[in-house]
Parts: sequence; C-alpha cells; structure tokens
Amino acid sequence: MDAADMGKDLEKVLIPEDELQARIRELAGRIDEDYAGKDVLLVGVLKGAVMVMADLARALRVPVQMDWMAVSSYGAGTRSSGVVRVLKDLDTDIMGRHVLIVEDIIDSGLTLHWLLENLKSRNPASLEICTALRKPDAVKVPIEVKYVGFDIPNEFVIGYGLDYAERFRNLPFIGTLAPHVYK
Ligand code: XMP
Ligand code: MG
Repeated sequence: MDAADMGKDLEKVLIPEDELQARIRELAGRIDEDYAGKDVLLVGVLKGAVMVMADLARALRVPVQMDWMAVSSYGAGTRSSGVVRVLKDLDTDIMGRHVLIVEDIIDSGLTLHWLLENLKSRNPASLEICTALRKPDAVKVPIEVKYVGFDIPNEFVIGYGLDYAERFRNLPFIGTLAPHVYK
C-alpha cells in the first residue's frame, strides 16, 4: 500500500520506508557493537513493536532471543490514559539477562516508565530501550533511551506497526492521519 492507495485517510508521509529501514540498520550496527559477546533478550511491546522488532532482529548480528509483552495504555483513541494493564506477560525469566526493550513509539513516556519499573524489579543484568520513534514535545516522564530511530513532532502517527483503531499497522512508512479520520 502506498500513499496514493490510502486516499484521503492519510495526511502526509512523515518518514518514508527507505529512511526507516536505513535508520533501523544503523541502530542495529550500534547495538551489535554495544552488545558484542553478550546474549541479548529483545522484549517487544505488542502490538505496535512488531514491525520494528522484525526488522531490527534481522539486522542484528549478535545472538538474540525475542519475547513479547502486551500492555495497554490506550483504548481505541489517540490519548494515553496513563493506566497500564498487562495483557500478556513475558514467557522468559529475565533475571541476569541483558534486556533490550523494543518499542514503536515513546509519546508521554508513561507506558515505558511503568514497564521499566516492572522489568527492573525482576533484576535483569542490564536494561535498555530501543524505540523507532519518540515525541520529545509530548514527554511527561523523562526516560533515558539509548537507541532512538527518529524524534518526531507531537502529532498522532500511523504505520510501521502503529495503528489508529487497529488500522494502518501494515503501512511500511510513518504517516499522519487526516483529521477527519479521528474527529
Ligand atoms: P505513552 O504516551 O505511554 O504511549 O508513551 C505509548 C504507547 O501509546 C501508543 N501511541 C501511539 N500509537 N500513534 C499510534 O498509533 C501515535 O502517535 C501514538 N503515540 C502513542 C503506542 O502504542 C505506544 O507504545
Ligand atoms: Mg496503539
């Protein structure tokens, strides 16, 4: 699907597919260096992180395992509620493991802040974050993020795993929605 196929639902393409892919490969290169000689456990946050996890994991050369958590801080809308529910916990015991959280987007930071505290209490050897996108102007809880794909404006975005009411996740680029879709 490209911008034309989305017709009037899409406002604009913010990050084209080739730029996304190139940036993920750059991040993978840095992660390879930083984790050389270590076993990494990638923890993806469902469902949004599916695309970045798939691309990042395949670009990495260090040995990795993948596990998933599903948490929910949003309903069908476009606002963070700040209330985090665990819908699916990890299958893996992360005690003593090098854990790298893989996220689609950091918006207010509320979800990730909660997740960090939750995972820290399980005593991993290390805990870092890799996110495809971050909205610096939306942050409510500052979080140290080691690997950031792109800092983007404070707009609701879709594509590359990100949805609006479960639609648009399969778009290979990041775009913004026309206001009529969510108003
Ligand atoms: P917070 O605000 O807690 O949000 O950092 C984290 C989660 O909220 C979702 N999110 C978005 N989803 N477009 C989306 O499709 C957006 O612009 C957006 N901003 C936040 C996302 O699931 C993220 O993990
Ligand atoms: Mg979502």
